[in-house]
Amino acid sequence: MTTSSIAGRSTAVAARATDLSKIYGQGETQVVALDRVSVDFAQAEFTAIMGPSGSGKSTLMHCVAGLDTFSSGSVRIGDTELGSLKDKQLTKLRRDKIGFIFQAFNLLPTLTALENITLPMDIAGRKPDKQWLDSVIEMIGLSGRLGHRPSQLSGGQQQRVAVARALASRPEIIFGDEPTGNLDSRSGAEVLGFLRNSVRELGQTVVMVTHDPVAAAYADRVVFLADGRIVDEVYGPTADAVLDRMKQFDTKGRTS
Ligand SMILES: Nc1ncnc2c1ncn2[C@@H]1O[C@H](COP(=O)(O)OP(=O)(O)O)[C@@H](O)[C@H]1O
Ligand SMILES: [Mg+2]
Repeated sequence: MTTSSIAGRSTAVAARATDLSKIYGQGETQVVALDRVSVDFAQAEFTAIMGPSGSGKSTLMHCVAGLDTFSSGSVRIGDTELGSLKDKQLTKLRRDKIGFIFQAFNLLPTLTALENITLPMDIAGRKPDKQWLDSVIEMIGLSGRLGHRPSQLSGGQQQRVAVARALASRPEIIFGDEPTGNLDSRSGAEVLGFLRNSVRELGQTVVMVTHDPVAAAYADRVVFLADGRIVDEVYGPTADAVLDRMKQFDTKGRTS
């Protein structure tokens, strides 16, 4: 297992990017979306990725999650180097080791909440670990609504189903791109609390892109991107501390 040392603490690494670059286009129209980014995502840690629009947050997430190719550098999920995989192997790794939570919940309307939660495993022909599934369902607090269709659930409840679906197969790491972006603040808080509990109580690893300092404060750590580079990071963030950092980058941006 790959390990790294943070403040003297040795932790297993769920995902790691090393000198990761992503360049779109060529010549005059070339855009450097990621510029030699190196970052570790430790197991059982909740990381928020923040930065101005266009700073490379989604690109970083997509490259580390094996959803997009990169120009140079390397990415590993657990001990597997993504660059060494053929398409089929990459598809399998995404299916078996990675969970995704999208802004649009992507639930199937004709299936019940429970059927939606187990769908990816059903497709993969894998039996869910019953004990694990029960603890996930208990934690999302939807036991009374498992037979409901998405249309019978609130937005927050639907997104909790989507989070439970990502957790069901017990992936190595879960990625979310603005997973609470479409929710009102109360539903958003529910989903974020649930994500945080999955990290604290179940040891899940979560990486989430957000522009909201309040959402970022649910994470254990915030990584700040600007112009495709990591420019700062904060452990044990509060919303105020995050807002302060964001203001600093804004000022730098305007004066340079
Ligand atoms: N498919 C693409 N083709 C060309 N440029 C892209 C593409 N996707 C993203 N970009 C550019 O890469 C940079 C980073 O984009 P993105 O990762 O979406 O930023 P963020 O998620 O932080 O808003 C931006 O300058 C964006 O315009
Ligand atoms: Mg984005």
